[in-house]
Amino acid sequence: MIKVVAFNGSARKDGNTAQMIRWVFEELEKEGIQTEMVQLAGKEIRGCAACYKCFKNQDGFCSVKDDAVNECIEKMVQAHGIILASPTYFADVSAEMKALIDRAGLVAKANNELYRRKVGAAVVAVRRGGAVHAFDSMNHFFLISQMIVPGSCYWNMGFGLEKGEVEKDEEGERTMRILGQNMAWVLKRLTG
Ligand SMILES: Cc1cc2nc3c(=O)[nH]c(=O)nc-3n(C[C@H](O)[C@H](O)[C@H](O)COP(=O)(O)O)c2cc1C
Repeated sequence: MIKVVAFNGSARKDGNTAQMIRWVFEELEKEGIQTEMVQLAGKEIRGCAACYKCFKNQDGFCSVKDDAVNECIEKMVQAHGIILASPTYFADVSAEMKALIDRAGLVAKANNELYRRKVGAAVVAVRRGGAVHAFDSMNHFFLISQMIVPGSCYWNMGFGLEKGEVEKDEEGERTMRILGQNMAWVLKRLTG
C-alpha cells in the first residue's frame, strides 16, 4: 500500500493548512493511496540542540527523545510520500515546522539519507504575503534530502485568515487537487 504522511505545522488545529492537506488527500485517496495527517499543534516540539549525537548514534532517531520529533521521523521513514504544510508566519514557516525540518533533516543526513527518492510536497496557507518564502523553506528540506518534488498549476498556496476562510479560495483548492493528482501519478510510477 502506498502511503503519504502530511505534517500540519500550524499552531492552530484544523485551520486553513489542514483544509488544504485534506484537498490533496482526497485526490490521493481516489487513487487508492493511504493518507495520514499529523497536526503539530499542541505537541511538544523543540528546535535542534546541535549536539550531533545523531551522527554518533546512527540509530535513525534524534537523541532528544522526550518530544514529538522521533514519532514524526518514524512516520516519514515508513511513508512513500511526505507533505510538509505550514501557515505563513512572518513570511516563513511556523516555529514548529522549522523545528521538524531541522531535526528530521539532520537525522536523515546522519543515517545515510533516510528520505532518498521519496516524493515530497510543500503546502502553504497565507493571509496575504510571504507564502513563496515559506514554500521555498520547505522545498529546501526535500531537495537536500534527495527527494522527488512534483508541482501543480501554481505554487502550492491557499489564501485565508480565519479558520476555514481558505475554502473560498477556488484557485487554491484547484492547485491542491492538481498537486494531489500529480503526487499520485509520480508515486505510482516510482513504486510500481
Ligand atoms: C504569528 C503569525 C504570523 C503571521 N504572519 C503572516 C504573514 O507573514 N503573512 C500573511 O499573509 N499571513 C500571516 N499570518 C496569517 C496566517 O498565515 C493565516 O491566518 C493562515 O491562514 C493560518 O493558517 P491556519 O489556519 O492553518 O493556522 C500570520 C499568523 C500568525 C498567527
